[in-house]
Amino acid sequence: MNVHRISLLGRRGNTISIVASGKGPVLFLLHGFPLDHRLWQSQLETLSERYHVIAPEMGGFGQSTLEESGYTIADLADDVELVRVHLASEQKITLCGLSMGGYVAFEYWSRFPGNLTALILANTKPTSDGENARVARMAMAQRAVEEGAWPAVSGMMDKLLNQTQENAKSVARQTTEEMLRGASASAISAAQNAMAGRRDFVADLPRIAVPTLVIGGQYDALATPEETRDWAARIPGARLEILAGCGHLSALEDPRRFNSSLAAFLDSVAAIDLS
Ligand code: MLT
Repeated sequence: MNVHRISLLGRRGNTISIVASGKGPVLFLLHGFPLDHRLWQSQLETLSERYHVIAPEMGGFGQSTLEESGYTIADLADDVELVRVHLASEQKITLCGLSMGGYVAFEYWSRFPGNLTALILANTKPTSDGENARVARMAMAQRAVEEGAWPAVSGMMDKLLNQTQENAKSVARQTTEEMLRGASASAISAAQNAMAGRRDFVADLPRIAVPTLVIGGQYDALATPEETRDWAARIPGARLEILAGCGHLSALEDPRRFNSSLAAFLDSVAAIDLS
């Protein structure tokens, strides 16, 4: 496995840092908040045996830089398009986004539907924020700037992972803490502002015509299985998998199950393409 890092200059003067691996049909992986490419470490290792896996780091996270003016979720979708043009020889892509990455994936679908072979929406939701969620985001953004990044996000540890004994000691927990501790105050603030202003895609769901897999986590408190079942049913023909034992970070909590769901779905999409 040859995991390598590439940097591209974004249209807003930002540097987009990308971790990529493998050869084959192109699979983009978009991480959640306030994470980075390490969310996808297993997918970069395993799925790269069959796919060209491309994991951009978004808006100030990992080694990507943050422009002073901040960004919108639509700007992040434009960054994905720029990466596709440069690294995927303009091929069509499968786009997989987890949580905030899913918000970017919805936006990418609305802007560039013709560039997608398939969509994977993991631990995410199509709804925009209500007033309380916006207020909570602004409070976290302010706390990050005033008190520092870790005090602002440390409380997320318990919300991101399924709180079982086994998980508490696991690699998933360690990696999650490393990512949270690595996030900067400015990236946290910018992402919270962008998510607070994101579009609502609920009314668009019946128009999603690209093959779609929706993945949820049995114990996901941030994108609950009940809500996930409800909106997934509005996407024509979408496949739904609720991963047993997982919280919000299913790709990290049960990579084997996540990867096999994803691979089985992509096989079914390839079979449709060939028929
Ligand atoms: C994420 O995991 O990306 C966040 O929980 C998304 C959000 O804050 O809405």
